[in-house]
Amino acid sequence: MAFWKPDTIAPGSSIDRAVERESADEGTLLVLGRESNTSLYEQRQQLPIAKHRRELLYLIETHQVTIVVGRTGSGKTTQLPQYLHEAGWSAGGRTVACCQPRRIAATSVAARVADEVGCTLGREVGYTVRFDDCSDPKITRIKYLTDGMLFRETLVDPLLSRYSVIMVDEAHERSLYTDIIIGVLKKILKKRPELRIIISSATIDAKAFYEFYNTNSTGQPSQENVAITSLEGRMYPVDVLYLAEATSDYILESVHTVMKIHQKHYPRMRNTIEMLPLHGSLPYEEQKRVFEPAPKSTRKVIFSTNVAEASVTIDGIVYVVDAGFVKLRSYNPSTGMESLCRAGRSGRTRPGKAFRIYTEEGFSKLSANNTPEIQRSNLMTVVLQLKALGIENVLRFDFLSAPPAEMMIRSLELLYSLKALDDYGRLTIPFGTSLAEFPLDPFLASTILNSHRFKCGAEILTIAAMLSVQNVFVVPSGQRREAEEERRKFAVEEGDHLTYLNVYNAFIRSNRSAKWCYQHFLNHKSLQRAVSIRNQLSKYASRFGIPIQSALRSHNRDNSDGDDDDDMDGDDDGSASCQVRKCLVSGYFAQAARLQIDGTYKTVRDNVTLHIHPNSVLFQRSPPWIIFHEVVETTKVFMRDITVVEPEWLVELAPHYYKHESRRN
Ligand code: CDP
Ligand code: MG
Repeated sequence: MAFWKPDTIAPGSSIDRAVERESADEGTLLVLGRESNTSLYEQRQQLPIAKHRRELLYLIETHQVTIVVGRTGSGKTTQLPQYLHEAGWSAGGRTVACCQPRRIAATSVAARVADEVGCTLGREVGYTVRFDDCSDPKITRIKYLTDGMLFRETLVDPLLSRYSVIMVDEAHERSLYTDIIIGVLKKILKKRPELRIIISSATIDAKAFYEFYNTNSTGQPSQENVAITSLEGRMYPVDVLYLAEATSDYILESVHTVMKIHQKHYPRMRNTIEMLPLHGSLPYEEQKRVFEPAPKSTRKVIFSTNVAEASVTIDGIVYVVDAGFVKLRSYNPSTGMESLCRAGRSGRTRPGKAFRIYTEEGFSKLSANNTPEIQRSNLMTVVLQLKALGIENVLRFDFLSAPPAEMMIRSLELLYSLKALDDYGRLTIPFGTSLAEFPLDPFLASTILNSHRFKCGAEILTIAAMLSVQNVFVVPSGQRREAEEERRKFAVEEGDHLTYLNVYNAFIRSNRSAKWCYQHFLNHKSLQRAVSIRNQLSKYASRFGIPIQSALRSHNRDNSDGDDDDDMDGDDDGSASCQVRKCLVSGYFAQAARLQIDGTYKTVRDNVTLHIHPNSVLFQRSPPWIIFHEVVETTKVFMRDITVVEPEWLVELAPHYYKHESRRN
């Protein structure tokens, strides 16, 4: 039995008492869609930020950098860009940019603001996220984009000259690219005194931003060119309730809490629950479902990662049950592996009540260890892009919080091994410069840039597109065995990458049929997305002069008996499969592992213990040498998306990286 300790109610109050304090007509758990009866215009006027409109515009006019602190829901993201637009900052073909750490926030907020402005999304108000550009440079005046995309734009337009104002939103989250953008903008400001920066943060602790910008070129505090302001108040009060005693099962406790709140409010009414997931890797179409109003007599319950914490606003949320988990990307420089793991962190607050499935004491411990992402990430892409911007000495770059030097050095070494950097640490031409421009992680982008050496551009583009989408295989509960059988039809003993290739080619042969996907337990939307991503990637490939040859086609032609079957299986295709796998090794050599006697794996150079993910077609096969695309950390450290390789390929294709290994063997 869990007891709740609200910060406004006496300690030890039970959840039942807390729930009772709510009036029944506010009976909305997490989300209950409700028709709004105020017009969008009136709603805008009622937001806490509306009172500050004049003050904000004045501060922005008179300061290069304005730091705006305001709680979630006060109107920063949706209103500030509109105020600037209305005040003329977007006149003369200029654009107001608002960059977000998360894709889903950029797309959903843009849609909302387009509604408020009264235009079609993609016209005056638009968004740009990776692989999806819904904006028109000639027409779009307010543009929401991910911080990663804004950084990417500096490669084409180093001074970001088309923007008059750049708002760095959710800066308190300290996402990797937010930090980079903050650093790059400091450089740009020196060259563009007329540019305006807004740093928006939902936490009070904005001093770091203030101090970072409020210095002159010699590093001394300068005259006031930075303003800081706070929008006090929020739309609705939120009571925060903590568990009085820690629980051992957060998930179960969360479900219990949901059911208790639900039953408390509608003890007699028939009120069904509609459950919806929400996480960053969910296909956009499915993410959108959480924003739709719930059907009549239905209570929406959204199970979400921390993406819902601050970045997205969903209408009608009343209760938040916070298990205290957050998905954090972490990078271990000594192994060079990036992994997704789950760690505890602070909760969120929303209008209504927040039930935290941990104690108040636990909360203070959790929020303390929120390290900026830049200090726990693989910095290869960042290093590449900073170098492409002409920042040669990345170790001396003015970071808001500098990443540990060993992480930088590890990234430099990997980039050197990929041949993206020369002996002097400069970007190689054209390989390094092309790699910096590719919208993929450097390992995967390298395989595409190297594909001409192995005459397998067509296959590698497909594999790269498939690795860029999620959940290709569908496993409905209750049909696990059938789904498994279907999957086996596509499986190749060389591993997951070639299996993806088979799935994709079969999908194309089916004329991209949704029915065919359904029959084979494949995700139609993911595959459609893969087709679109492949098209975009092939445009990059041709821009960089990479021929799109097919290893399989050329092999079949050589054997002259080749039918038109694109499947990678059987001995006939052995050499085509080798070409593709060697090409994969040319990018992923650093993520190679070797089978141990006890059935586990160890990375070849750093001896880190790993396991094959149960979803891999190689699970239970245990090939002696493999490369993997990524690791996920749950109960163990699992490798995902794996391909069988030959050990001599590693030394052949990455002689610098494996020079000690080759001497030892
Ligand atoms: O950025 P901040 O958290 O300060 O607030 P916002 O995202 O600009 O949201 C301001 C208000 O707009 C919210 O309180 C919601 O009422 C509304 N909103 C909405 O209804 N739907 C959205 N997709 C976004 C915002
Ligand atoms: Mg916001």
